[in-house]
Amino acid sequence: MNRIAILADIHGNAPALDAIVEDIEGSNIDEVLVGGDLVGRGPQGTAVVERVRARGWPSVRGNHEDYALNFIHKRVPDEWLEEDIWAASRWMANELNADAVEYIDALPFSFAPSVDLPFLLVHGSPIRNNDGIGPWTSDDKCEQHLESVHEDAIVCGHTHRPHFRKLNAGVIVNVGSVGLPFNGDWRAQYAILHRDNAQSPWQAEFRQVEYDREGFLDTYESSGFLREGLVTSYLLKLEVETARPHLVPFLRWAQNQSMEPTFASMDVFLDWYDPTLPLKTLLERLENPGS
Ligand SMILES: [Fe+2]
Ligand SMILES: [Fe+2]
Repeated sequence: MNRIAILADIHGNAPALDAIVEDIEGSNIDEVLVGGDLVGRGPQGTAVVERVRARGWPSVRGNHEDYALNFIHKRVPDEWLEEDIWAASRWMANELNADAVEYIDALPFSFAPSVDLPFLLVHGSPIRNNDGIGPWTSDDKCEQHLESVHEDAIVCGHTHRPHFRKLNAGVIVNVGSVGLPFNGDWRAQYAILHRDNAQSPWQAEFRQVEYDREGFLDTYESSGFLREGLVTSYLLKLEVETARPHLVPFLRWAQNQSMEPTFASMDVFLDWYDPTLPLKTLLERLENPGS
């Protein structure tokens, strides 16, 4: 029986990864794979890359690897190299050492382990690494994804929310996030895939592991990330504290309200925002207050 651990969306959180490494060591695992977004959104990108690389775990490339490389190679609009709202992105790109940059630049879009393990690992969907599959994705769309690949199982991340979907064409497993869950549970999360034999269906065991979150949050200050990354770093820290998305909702809200994304507008946003509700619902309420 193959038991494969898949971890994704570590996001520069070394203690969360360390806790999962320990959990994996006691869980009778045959193979470990990484679903991308090793870096970005957190201050310890280099440490995470070093840990994954040292263990030789195959990884795919997340959209945050692409974002970091775009900043490193200056493939971004000129103003992003100056504006405050991108200060955290610049900080995280600068934090990556040359070996880490070389490593993430070589990561593939997808990974199919072997004929004995017939599933496809991608970061987002088989089409794009910034296109997430979650409970909101229709069955029709999921079937289309499965029909577009050779394997009868797709394993993914990106949404930071664990999800399992069984369909006619196979299964989709979203393994959740190691370093930055958005499902309200702050613990480091990953999944173990297993099957009884080559003909039996894949099953997923979702695991949650406590880690030294307070120690990790302290590094936001000690590293300079919080101070130098400005409003973006503040919201990224809040995401770790609440295990709910804040940064992208704030940027979408600021755009919707035609406000500059600053600390002052962030205070207005935080008074209004309910992270347990979908942002789409909140924005609709904002536009139609009587509805
Ligand atoms: Fe992510
Ligand atoms: Fe992602």
